[in-house]
Amino acid sequence: MEINLFDHQAADDAAYAAYNTLSNTLRAERLPDLPPIPVVEQKGRLQSMPPFMGYSLFTVTDKHTQTMIAATEVSVPQMAENAHMVQFMIHVLPAYRRQGTGRLLLGRVAELAQGNGRHLLLSSSYGNIPAGAAFLERMGASRGLETHTNRLNLADLDRNLLADWLAHGAALTTEFALGLWVGPYPEEELANIAQLMDVMNQQPRGELKTADIQFTPERVRELQAASLSGGVESWTLYARERQTGELVGYTAVYFSPNRPEQMSQGDTGVFPAYRGRGLGRWLKAAMLDKALRERPEVQYVLTGNADSNAPMLKINHDLGFRPYLPQTIWQVDLETLLAYLHQAPSTS
Ligand SMILES: CC(C)(COP(=O)(O)OP(=O)(O)OC[C@H]1O[C@@H](n2cnc3c(N)ncnc32)[C@H](O)[C@@H]1OP(=O)(O)O)[C@@H](O)C(=O)NCCC(=O)NCCS
Repeated sequence: MEINLFDHQAADDAAYAAYNTLSNTLRAERLPDLPPIPVVEQKGRLQSMPPFMGYSLFTVTDKHTQTMIAATEVSVPQMAENAHMVQFMIHVLPAYRRQGTGRLLLGRVAELAQGNGRHLLLSSSYGNIPAGAAFLERMGASRGLETHTNRLNLADLDRNLLADWLAHGAALTTEFALGLWVGPYPEEELANIAQLMDVMNQQPRGELKTADIQFTPERVRELQAASLSGGVESWTLYARERQTGELVGYTAVYFSPNRPEQMSQGDTGVFPAYRGRGLGRWLKAAMLDKALRERPEVQYVLTGNADSNAPMLKINHDLGFRPYLPQTIWQVDLETLLAYLHQAPSTS
């Protein structure tokens, strides 16, 4: 086995193709009914990783067959407020599991954490791949946050409810105006949008020992460049208070040209002082209404939520979103991880 740092910005086409084959095989395991990601999209995603995420990718090649069989993605965030942590994800092809490859890659992650003075590591496991949780438990990690990808089949959307929420929203138009940004956010609004995005820090983080992200125009630009890579289109609906001109809430969705049947629901947030009045429902209903009218090819909506995010789940559940893929976010101290790595492997 050979571990290599993958030049995610400027690899050659054969390397991007090899990584794409690996990552689609692993994607099909956890998301069997979703289509594969084309190599051009994968390449675009890798090339537009937000610099502040401090991303790197290591791959493992079986020297006998020259096949890429495993990879780890590591993020060493370049953020003063999260300078204590590293995020990682290790994937090994099913046929190569229980042979010590995951552990080998974990050693590389630990080195990177240590070399960058980080003492907390975060990772995830999927509910339909028990090996992930077993691996994380074995290294001494603990569960930090339970989440789900939730899915709405538009055929199941309650249209009467949608009409009710839109009517309720219409009654708010004396106080609030909805507006739309298509694609990249307007430069002149970036400072206000960075402030608005701060609302996302209020999502539940369970036991995770992470800090609020300080959104800045620069970081918003980087995040947008990443999420709009490869021809992805976005709609962001926002609510502005008429009297003050303040942005008070928003919801964003994304459309990939490679998956016209899918709409991805990103951030949705309303500032606390404006909650309980139907603004969140109005934003979500207006977005779905627009998608139904303008994107008839969309069949389902995917979104990620913490299981403890009761207000968001209430809205989503009422609309018809249902659990699709459970995901747990884990955390482990570097000290605990190093102690595990210093032990001899048990069986594998
Ligand atoms: C999790 C995953 C990366 C493990 O890779 P792997 O190459 O099989 O792991 P290793 O063989 O190096 O095993 C490392 C340790 O985890 C334990 N382990 C791994 N899979 C296990 C399982 N299914 N059940 C119980 N223990 C398991 C091993 O016994 C080993 O313990 P040891 O150090 O005492 O010998 C792999 O199953 C995978 O790709 N899963 C899908 C992606 C995922 O869920 N990633 C998890 C987050 S990083």
